[in-house]
Amino acid sequence: MCGIVGFTGTQQAAPVLLTGLKRLEYRGYDSAGIAVQHEGKILTEKCSGYLENLNRITDNGKNVPGFCGIGHTRWATHGAPTVTNAHPHVSNDGHFAVVHNGIIENYALLRAELMEKGFVFHSETDTEVVVHLLDLYYTGSLKQAVMKTVARLEGSYALGVVCDEHPGELIAVKSASPLILGVGAGENFFASDVTALIGHTRTVIYLEDGEFASLTPEKITVYDCGGRELQKPLSRVMWNTEAAEKGGYEHFMLKEIMEQPRALKATIEPRVKNGEIVLEGFQLSDEELQGINQIVITACGSAYHAGYVGRYIMEELCRIPVRAELASELRYSNPIINEHTLVIVISQSGETADTIAALKECKARGARTLAIVNVVGSTVAKLADSVLYTWAGPEIAVATTKGYTTQIAILDLLAVYMGHRLGRVEEGRYAALVEGICALPERCQRAIDLNTQAAALAEAFHDKPSLFYIGRNLDYAVCMEASLKLKEISYIHSEAYAAGELKHGTIALIDEEQLVVALACHRPLFEKLISNVKEVKARGAQVLAVAQESERRIFAEADQVLLVPECDALLLPIPEIIPLQLFAYYVAKFNGCDIDKPKNLAKSVTVE
Ligand code: M6R
Repeated sequence: MCGIVGFTGTQQAAPVLLTGLKRLEYRGYDSAGIAVQHEGKILTEKCSGYLENLNRITDNGKNVPGFCGIGHTRWATHGAPTVTNAHPHVSNDGHFAVVHNGIIENYALLRAELMEKGFVFHSETDTEVVVHLLDLYYTGSLKQAVMKTVARLEGSYALGVVCDEHPGELIAVKSASPLILGVGAGENFFASDVTALIGHTRTVIYLEDGEFASLTPEKITVYDCGGRELQKPLSRVMWNTEAAEKGGYEHFMLKEIMEQPRALKATIEPRVKNGEIVLEGFQLSDEELQGINQIVITACGSAYHAGYVGRYIMEELCRIPVRAELASELRYSNPIINEHTLVIVISQSGETADTIAALKECKARGARTLAIVNVVGSTVAKLADSVLYTWAGPEIAVATTKGYTTQIAILDLLAVYMGHRLGRVEEGRYAALVEGICALPERCQRAIDLNTQAAALAEAFHDKPSLFYIGRNLDYAVCMEASLKLKEISYIHSEAYAAGELKHGTIALIDEEQLVVALACHRPLFEKLISNVKEVKARGAQVLAVAQESERRIFAEADQVLLVPECDALLLPIPEIIPLQLFAYYVAKFNGCDIDKPKNLAKSVTVE
């Protein structure tokens, strides 16, 4: 969602801010703005729509002088995406400018109080209260004004502040919204995430909730909420600039689809040593593991779909009841979770608000918690008892691809590892599964190579008004992700349906207009799935099937076929999603959609 950048140094700030905002575009936004200190004043430029507009009015920042400033991309929550509602917001006297990511939950009360005191509000945003509070509390000390302001705020916020009376100084505040400080030489930065920083520095400081920092070109000072100075460690970011660029591909999504063999290798390889799975982040003793009597996997969106795949694999191998729950539901459900529950939380960004809330709820009930996360130092990673990172590298496209498959790879490793430690996966099966997991990067590459016809199939079907994805067991779990992939980037309605359920009502919708994508990779239920294919074909639907490459029977049943390489049944979901990601990508492309930044969507959903 909203993106924040801040820069102070000796080069012109506006171009640096705009480049940083460009790197945060993928988070999703609908307006943007910058504010820069210049000769005792704050200069502000804002636009609705995309950054191109801001680049145009500022001549790529060249028109805005000054060496210290803040920038923002806004994903509208309170008020439409207009120029007035765009950040930065400026105080009535023009002395302060503020950018904000998150939601100030008590803004209505604060707004009424401030209006009574004579402050004039120009926007409909919750953020504007922050800038007026700073103005109210400022008596010469920026630090004191920030502390008094923050003490009045409820909700989640990452804030960037500049004040014209403090040239060269930026303030960064973090509470339940991501914000990272970038340490340069004679210049310093902050940003919502590392992708905006890696072009300038790979040395960062991770702020904790409740901390704030003062940045000047020479120095960064971090404080706790009581204003006491803290000594914070410097961390090194492993991601590089190339990883956050398109590298010749037309879209980040296509690049990230193609990167999956490499991302899987990076995720799997360090965790298999001499044929044994080694999970350094997994901290349960044998006794604690034996004491686990249920596993709950919770997440949102595609991460939940990865969890849904994991549910089948874990239950099969560990013989412990496993359920997958949407984090947005779990957090309000009074769940039966206790110290005998292992809760696995999955999140690419590690900043998804509902996932964080569900994790906190489960921890409060005494559960053992394990996070599967891509972003190092993110909130989910910090909150969970143990973390297993997916080493997928930065994922920029809003529609996740390598994030999802690397999450499943970790779940595969975890299920085999736990099942073995529990004595429920015997040695021969263990060795075969470990070998199968190690082969996944190559299987994934084969899935890419096998499906060069995905673009042609997308061209043939791109004007379908609605699609059904059907499957059973693990195929059904993959349907959920395939359907979301198509919906979110092509805006075509689709539904994932358990194939056996069709006849209980939904088959009434099937006619010659429908394309049914039938996932037929799960061999034990192949015949059953074929019966469902016959049912929909009898009602006129066209069928695009997805099957393992040696499964020749499928050609007699389906109109078109996408192929998946041979693989252990439990490990199939990773290669199986690849042709469906490609299909969704090309359908969106034929429909002229904005693939990397689909309408209404944000990469990291940091509000409820
Ligand atoms: O960062 P997270 O993995 O927690 O994000 C969860 C969902 O918001 C995310 O997977 C979303 O569904 C994607 N746009 C799907 O492609």
